[in-house]
Amino acid sequence: MSVILVVGMQWGDEAKGKIVDLLSEKADIVARFQGGPNAGHTVVIEDDEFVLHQIPSGILRGDKECVIGNGMIIDLRGLVEEMEQLRERGLQIEDNLVISEGAHLIMPYHRLLDGACEQLRGKRKIGTTKRGIGPTYADKVSYKGIRVCDLMDETVFARKLEFSLKEKNFLFRQFFRLKELEFKEIYEEFLNLRDKVRPYIRDTRALMREAVQEKKNILLEGAQGTMLDVDHGTYPYVTASNSSIGGVGAGLGIPPQKIDHVIGVAKAFTTRVGEGPLPTEERGKIGEILRDRGNEFGATTGRPRRCGYLDLVVLNHSCWLNGVDHLAITKLDVLDTLGKIRVCTHYEFEGEILHNVPVSTEIAERCRPVYEDLDGWSERTSGIKRYDELPDKAKEYLSFVSNGVGVPITIIGTGPGRSDAIVLESLFQK
Ligand code: IMP
Repeated sequence: MSVILVVGMQWGDEAKGKIVDLLSEKADIVARFQGGPNAGHTVVIEDDEFVLHQIPSGILRGDKECVIGNGMIIDLRGLVEEMEQLRERGLQIEDNLVISEGAHLIMPYHRLLDGACEQLRGKRKIGTTKRGIGPTYADKVSYKGIRVCDLMDETVFARKLEFSLKEKNFLFRQFFRLKELEFKEIYEEFLNLRDKVRPYIRDTRALMREAVQEKKNILLEGAQGTMLDVDHGTYPYVTASNSSIGGVGAGLGIPPQKIDHVIGVAKAFTTRVGEGPLPTEERGKIGEILRDRGNEFGATTGRPRRCGYLDLVVLNHSCWLNGVDHLAITKLDVLDTLGKIRVCTHYEFEGEILHNVPVSTEIAERCRPVYEDLDGWSERTSGIKRYDELPDKAKEYLSFVSNGVGVPITIIGTGPGRSDAIVLESLFQK
């Protein structure tokens, strides 16, 4: 048995969904521990593309227990729609989906507040997904959140909703000059949604404890990436949760020493959606090539992603913070046409060399990336499944990355399909 964490090394969108899908074949349980519908995990199976926002990607296997942990925040309307879509495509969710009674609910006022705050920030906007993520976590840590278990009790739900609406409607009316929200409308909608999810609700803390004690194979599916972690990312251009390993204990109730392996997932280049520092960003032709070849458009919002070369300063930071012992490098094939491939090895800031990601965003924004230039391979790697079939220059590129961070590369993604990958080591033991 093993507990394996799959975590993003960059700013999200590293193709974690594909890695989770690959590894979930041998898993008994796939669990998410943070974030909400801001995530978009795309998995391609034959000609079918699935984009999952809240349900763990393991659901596509049909026989895995898929857990929405207490550290996640849930948009019930979206979740019910996602469940419907999976059912329509013939997927079995009845016996497989489990929703934590401790997870917090994203309420309509959270979504409204998210949009209104973004507008207020003007030029310094975060570029959020406008799914209500920040305001929901803010209510959680200021003791005003509404949890799934609260919704199970109509009286508690009504009391909490009434209290929250009083404050939020004051803000909407007096500060944002927006229309107030109606108690009755929200109350009725949520009770209706509750009936659709009730059979799936459980104490996932107890479930995870039993699973670890019964030595099941457990896959922990991170969302977003380490550079979006509220503590270790490029604050304030982050998401509101701990998207690195720190979120596991809080968001599922698994003690850290029970995690056997940490697989850090990084693209062979860098992307970011939304605002904030991105030292290796390529605003010209290279950026366009990466965006076009990698189809780099947000799975949740459709926004074009900002693209650039791989940043080893970021990768080093994320490998250390998460205790990564295996790397998955995805989308290698996107680099196939580049004659020269640059890799950022350190930054320069006002004449000083930096090997660490600066804590200050203002400094990070002004860092100049320093590159090492490697030869491209100018050969097609799409769909390659064996390491020895890769061009030598592609192997050199991968070695350079692996040596740069001192972590072996165990999985290499060579295309969007489920089987477009080179797997060098199978980590789950049955
Ligand atoms: P929020 O999580 O919607 O509040 O957005 C905060 C920041 O995180 C924005 O820059 C978003 O673009 C980014 N973000 C949130 N979720 C994801 C994701 O799944 N992939 C990539 N970026 C994300």
